[in-house]
Amino acid sequence: MTRRAKAPLVFCAGGTGRLGRLLVPRLLARGARVRVLTRQPGQARAWVGEGAELAGGDLDDPQAVRAALQGATHAFVLSPIAPALVAQQLAVVEAARAAGVGHVVKLSGSDWTLEPPGRSLSGDAHRQVEQALAATGLPHVVLRPNAWMQVALGRIVQELRVGDAITSAHGEARVSYIDARDIADVAVRALLDGPELLPSLPGPWVLTGAQALDFTAIAALAARFTGRAIAYRPARAATGLSPFVAQVHAQFAELIGEGAAEAATDTVARVLGRAPRTVEDFLAQQLG
Ligand SMILES: NC(=O)c1ccc[n+]([C@@H]2O[C@H](COP(=O)([O-])OP(=O)(O)OC[C@H]3O[C@@H](n4cnc5c(N)ncnc54)[C@H](OP(=O)(O)O)[C@@H]3O)[C@@H](O)[C@H]2O)c1
Repeated sequence: MTRRAKAPLVFCAGGTGRLGRLLVPRLLARGARVRVLTRQPGQARAWVGEGAELAGGDLDDPQAVRAALQGATHAFVLSPIAPALVAQQLAVVEAARAAGVGHVVKLSGSDWTLEPPGRSLSGDAHRQVEQALAATGLPHVVLRPNAWMQVALGRIVQELRVGDAITSAHGEARVSYIDARDIADVAVRALLDGPELLPSLPGPWVLTGAQALDFTAIAALAARFTGRAIAYRPARAATGLSPFVAQVHAQFAELIGEGAAEAATDTVARVLGRAPRTVEDFLAQQLG
């Protein structure tokens, strides 16, 4: 058997998405083989690069999910917030169990959406999947990342191209934003080194940046990097969302407004042996 054939084979649901596109090249760089499930195999090569296998299939089709997991040694479970999230992710968990996968990593919701239950449709859905995964007895790590810089702060760059104000749906609240690249770095370790890390770091792994900032502080950073006076304004309600996603976002905004997303953990530093990337670094790269 060749060295390559002995390498772990990581099945990735969501491997073509915002986080998945960061995760796949990192897994390949660690010597793993990667199989990405996608509904768009014709376009996915351009998104995930060379080196990963592409498995055409839909999470709504359990048979396709089972086929895509054949031979996998590890599974990464991610799907977007939607009414189908629980059924889609349970299909992956069940197929992973049936395929004899040895280790599973689930990308879950932010910790404050799951704890306490009953306040977030998204958090409650992720909780159902976490519980079902635990019930399989499969070795696994659950990742609960806080709000991602690339999502929550990504639009600042566009806003500063056309004006001197940035907007936030998070009001005056402080949030310990995390860089999605750190989530991807942690996910690689959770997948490939999970069994050795779990005894000292039992899950769920609550992932945050090192520091919580509000938008007044973020506007001050933006002013420093652009050399202009930058104002902060509350964002207008997003348009074009499905009623379900709009409700989920409204719940997030309410919880964040209460300060639920402020807490910072040391999990990223403990897993990676270095400090998390900062908002300052993120904005310097985006605006510099
Ligand atoms: N953004 C945050 O601040 C934050 C914080 C905490 C947790 N999260 C969690 O992160 C997840 C979203 O991650 P993301 O932003 O990386 O996702 P995303 O960019 O929206 O990507 C969606 C991915 O899911 C795949 N997908 C969607 N529907 C599918 C289907 N029916 N069959 C097969 N694949 C399907 C897409 O693949 P194809 O299009 O190629 O088929 C794509 O790879 C959610 O579960 C959310 O709760 C987000």
